[in-house]
Amino acid sequence: MKVPFRRDRRTPPPAVPEGAVRVGPLADVPEGAVQRICQNPPIAVLRHGATVHAFEDRCPHAGALLSRGTARGDEVTCPSHKGVFRADTGKSIGEQSCRALRTYEPVVVDGVLYVNPAPREAREARRDVCDRISA
Ligand code: FES
Repeated sequence: MKVPFRRDRRTPPPAVPEGAVRVGPLADVPEGAVQRICQNPPIAVLRHGATVHAFEDRCPHAGALLSRGTARGDEVTCPSHKGVFRADTGKSIGEQSCRALRTYEPVVVDGVLYVNPAPREAREARRDVCDRISA
């Protein structure tokens, strides 16, 4: 099998995804706090050092803004009824059973954070959302 000649075997630098939302310099994104970065679609980010998670900024239970909630590690707590979600996977955790948040791909290019507004996963059916969160 012939192996094509490659002069540079290093991984190419990440490219800015088409239609990506420019958030700004990564160093300017607050550490450990949920920050809304886009209205439509509603997207929030949570940064820990060089790690950034981007997720839907609307609670699937009753639509509260998670950017007004609190973060503890990678867990985000909804301000309305205290539903808890993983910022990295979007999964609902704790005693609640809720639809997962959509998550988005963050990309850092030359120290600037961008978020691809195309969700990583298809939207789940909204029929079976939030079994045990009392409104
Ligand atoms: S609106 Fe988020 S838990 Fe109810």
